[in-house]
Amino acid sequence: MTHERRPTEVVNAIAKQHPVVHRSWSRPRPVIDYGEGIYLFDQDGKRYIDGSSGTSVIANIGQGVWSVVEAMYEQGKRVSFAAPHVFTNEPMLKLGQMVKERAPGNLRDNCRIWFSCTGSNAVDDAVRLARQYAVARGKPMKYVVVSRWQQFHGNDLGAAGLAGHTARRRLLYPMFVNSPHIPPAYCYRCPFGDSHPDCGLKCALALETMIRQIGEENVMAFVAEPVVGAALASLPAPEGYFEVIRDICDRYGVLLIVDEVMTAWGRLGAWFAMEQYGVTPDIIATSKGLTAGYTPLACTIAAEEIWQVIEDTGAPFMAGHTMSENPVSCAAAVATLEYLEATDLISNSKEVGAYLLERLRELLDLDIVGDVRGRGLMCGLEFVKNKETKEPFPPELKVCGLVFSEALERGLITFPCTGCVDGVAGDMMLVTPPLIITQEQIDEMIDIFKESIKAAQARLADWKPPSEQKIHY
Ligand SMILES: Cc1ncc(COP(=O)(O)O)c(C=O)c1O
Repeated sequence: MTHERRPTEVVNAIAKQHPVVHRSWSRPRPVIDYGEGIYLFDQDGKRYIDGSSGTSVIANIGQGVWSVVEAMYEQGKRVSFAAPHVFTNEPMLKLGQMVKERAPGNLRDNCRIWFSCTGSNAVDDAVRLARQYAVARGKPMKYVVVSRWQQFHGNDLGAAGLAGHTARRRLLYPMFVNSPHIPPAYCYRCPFGDSHPDCGLKCALALETMIRQIGEENVMAFVAEPVVGAALASLPAPEGYFEVIRDICDRYGVLLIVDEVMTAWGRLGAWFAMEQYGVTPDIIATSKGLTAGYTPLACTIAAEEIWQVIEDTGAPFMAGHTMSENPVSCAAAVATLEYLEATDLISNSKEVGAYLLERLRELLDLDIVGDVRGRGLMCGLEFVKNKETKEPFPPELKVCGLVFSEALERGLITFPCTGCVDGVAGDMMLVTPPLIITQEQIDEMIDIFKESIKAAQARLADWKPPSEQKIHY
């Protein structure tokens, strides 16, 4: 589509008139107008393919699903909000039942669900729940949550302590409770210099060492993303990893919390990632695809036994937000899950996801694409300066930002991420289109992506040190 773009100065001038803060100061933002399926259109009429499903892995069912909009509208007409300390509500009760029936492994029909607003809430509530459970069981010394490097768990101060993304933690470092971190399960850059499966999964065994060092009487939980999203660009766990983790957690009385904020609700070709790994966690934090971006909602799912122990104390669960249990959001989630089922999008995610991964692997022919990975429609790639040595680009080059801006110019939305090597260096890109994407649309997306990476490569070839040249994106 050809279109007239407003000059950057004009867009910047418009942006300056509005007292709102965006995520970057420098890049002018097009104003979104409307969306249709996997496409978004700005007010200048430019079309974008949503290659990341929002920021990111949210808009799973695409734009303009009327059954979801109508469900929200009908609920809003009836009652938009009612104090959770007084009432329960019909959509939440229905949604709770639906989640329970779809929960993975032994949690299926054997769990209760707590609703909140954001993925960060869901993770924080998972930790609160683990703590209240430990205290209720007479183990008040259990408070340590072991985490992993190169993971992301949200943007509040609690999650900052769990997260293993150095660049995001630095500013806040003295202000949060720091978790001990074990190395990531990252075969492309194995922290132990081994290769799977001969490695014996040292990355998983590191949990046992950590628990023994801290003392099992102090360790309350271990938290992990089943497929690491923004911190490692859609990196699935190696085969056998979660079985080893589950066994260690069981032997030391440590709860296994999985952060399925990105991975649940069909993204990988199953309701939950843990269903695919065949391992049942104790607690799941999830959000994003639950309402597919139509409105915010999150939930924390935990084994019945955990809730029962707390219920037996008579104390309420010590968490909650004023906007939790929102009936309009719950109605949106019910309609989203019904839509996923009616259109069999979970199967599509598996099938079309395999095609996406295959097409992405073609990009390994390009000079700077070092690795391609993923599962279902949660894929990603890693850029390297040297494919032999896997040397990353210097962070100041902002290579993933460069590819991002080239793709955006060509009408493709991608999600750049950094820090895979040491929390700072290492450029990556998430490729996570909506689950409704077709093979033809993937072909179009890959063509644009390829062109964008080539354009970025050309710009990198001309690159001079920052003192001599500034790259704007
Ligand atoms: C794995 C993971 N956990 C937690 C969060 C936090 O979710 P939210 O941004 O909704 O608070 C995110 C957000 O990207 C995430 O990717």
